[in-house]
Amino acid sequence: MTQAQSAIVPDGGPYALYVMLKVTDDAALVLQQCQRLAEIAKQTQEVFGDAQMGVAVGFSPAFCRTHGLAYPEGVTDFRPRESRKHRAPHTDCDVFIHLHGLRHDLNFYVFQQWLTPIKKVVDVVDETAGFRYLDARDMTGFIDGTENPQGLARDAVAVIPDGPFAGGSVALVQRYVHDLPAWERLQQAAQEKVIGRTKPDSIELEDMPDTSHVGRVDIKENGVGLKILRQSLPYGSVSGEHGLLFLAYCQQQHPLDVMLDSMFGERDGKTDMMLSFTQAVTGAIMFMPSQTTLAQYVE
Ligand code: HEM
Repeated sequence: MTQAQSAIVPDGGPYALYVMLKVTDDAALVLQQCQRLAEIAKQTQEVFGDAQMGVAVGFSPAFCRTHGLAYPEGVTDFRPRESRKHRAPHTDCDVFIHLHGLRHDLNFYVFQQWLTPIKKVVDVVDETAGFRYLDARDMTGFIDGTENPQGLARDAVAVIPDGPFAGGSVALVQRYVHDLPAWERLQQAAQEKVIGRTKPDSIELEDMPDTSHVGRVDIKENGVGLKILRQSLPYGSVSGEHGLLFLAYCQQQHPLDVMLDSMFGERDGKTDMMLSFTQAVTGAIMFMPSQTTLAQYVE
């Protein structure tokens, strides 16, 4: 009854589509269409073959407030960050769609089927097609996902366990654009200090700088490590923009905010060295309701 939407917990397939939308009119029609996403994915796979698709739809807290949709207390809109050198901007969007699976064409097809009936009442703010790169590496060449929770821990980290929003999740979405020429000017040992892990095999450095990426986001509170479930993928073209579509799910917003604060200098004044080589160009916090709550939104 309180099942999480299907994209949230399973290990993402090699292809994903991440879409941010702004609703310009007829929110009721858009909400009805949001109900249909899982059904469209199911029907598509019945016709074209099983692509082990996961699908999820979420809403910004501001959109929930405006349209009287229930969402958990303590979930707040994305707060932009700005340090002396780095920015994490907020993107004005209402709805977020996450599709993943074994086939890029079916992600495209499902999203197109879903969008067509509501095209006149929404603006697509950002549409990013992600793909697994090499052996699950970010375009910096480092393995991304080593410390992601596995097995049952994925559920425990990502999904609200009980209460009125059981089965829901909080998402942080940010598109990062990499400056690979600048990154590639660094020697491997210097890159490893920036990330905090070795490049070939992702082993944590013994002398990890606290301004390395892992040094910034591996955070303990009262002796307990903060955990999030990442569903990010690289995206883009060689001659155009490329980087990482960062997406993480968590049963509360707090760990996501603390990690961002730590990366962008709002915790102890120190910033993540990785941010000298990549720039966040979008940012949103979205509430991803359980399948039950999603159905209640149109009752
Ligand atoms: C770890 C890349 C943004 C949270 C890592 C690792 C890499 C990486 C290579 C090490 C391997 C691993 O454990 O996965 C990136 C890139 C980013 C990015 C390229 C953006 C361009 C973020 C953001 C957050 C975050 C925005 C959180 C708000 C984490 C966490 C870990 C991690 C929690 C695991 C740390 C640990 O406990 O060892 N990331 N990341 N990352 N990242 Fe990121």
